[in-house]
Amino acid sequence: MKVLILNGSPRGERSNTLIVTKAFLEGMLGSGKELETEFVTVTKYHIDHCKGCFCCWQNTPGECIIKDDMKELLQKYIQADYIIWSFPLYYYGMPSLLKAFMDRLLPINLPYIGEKEDGTNFHPSRYDLTKQQHILISTCGFCSVENNYEALLKQFDILTKGNYVKILCPEGELLQVPQLKPRKDSYLTSVRAAGEELLKHQCILPETKGELEALLVPAKQFIEMANTSWKAI
Ligand SMILES: Cc1cc2nc3c(=O)[nH]c(=O)nc-3n(C[C@H](O)[C@H](O)[C@H](O)COP(=O)(O)O)c2cc1C
Repeated sequence: MKVLILNGSPRGERSNTLIVTKAFLEGMLGSGKELETEFVTVTKYHIDHCKGCFCCWQNTPGECIIKDDMKELLQKYIQADYIIWSFPLYYYGMPSLLKAFMDRLLPINLPYIGEKEDGTNFHPSRYDLTKQQHILISTCGFCSVENNYEALLKQFDILTKGNYVKILCPEGELLQVPQLKPRKDSYLTSVRAAGEELLKHQCILPETKGELEALLVPAKQFIEMANTSWKAI
C-alpha cells in the first residue's frame, strides 16, 4: 500500500509538524503491513496557482494546462492508499503553499454537479478514490483546538466525506524545546501507537485518542513560557 506524505510546512524539513508525522509513520510501518512511502515537501516543488480557467474540465479533460510539477504530483495523489496531510495551522487554515496544491487537485474531479440526499452539492471524482484514507496531522501555536481548528476541520469533513483521522497538536513550538524532551517523547509514543492502530484497527483507539488530546504542558504554564520567550527577544 502506498502512503503519500504531504509536508505542507513552509519550514520544510525543520517543521514541528513533521516531527509528529514521522512518529505516526513509524507507527504505521511498525504494524507489519507492507508500505511504500513517499514524502512530498511542497517547498521543493514548483506548484503554480490554479488559474480558474476550467480547461481541465473542458478543453483537456483531467489535465491541467499549467506545465509544472503538479502533473507528477497528481499521479502520486491518485495512486496513494493513504494521504498524510502534514502542516501547521496558518490563520485557522492551511498554509497557502498547500492550498495551492489543493486547488490544483481540480482535474481529479468531474465538472458535473451532484446532489446529496440533504440537498447539498458535490463534484463526482474522475477516479475511484473511495478506498483512499486521509490523515490530517497539524501543529499550531496556541494551546487550544477550540476557536482555532473549526474551519479547517469543516474543510476536511467535506473534502474527505468524513473519511479521515486527525492528530492536532497545540503548543507545537514546544516540540523544539530541549528541556521538554521527556514530555515530547511520551507524546510521540502515543502518536506512534496511533499510526499502528490505524493500520491494525482502521481507527485510533479511544485510549490513544485521549492521550493525544492532552496538552504538552498545562495551558497557563504554556502561555507564561511563550510570552516570556517573546519578551526575551
Ligand atoms: C503565518 C502564520 C499563521 C499562523 N496562524 C496560526 C493560527 O491561526 N493558530 C495557531 O494556533 N497558530 C498559528 N501559527 C503558529 C504555527 O501553527 C505553529 O508555529 C506551528 O507549530 C508551526 O509548525 P511547522 O514548524 O510545522 O511549520 C501561525 C504561524 C504563522 C507563521
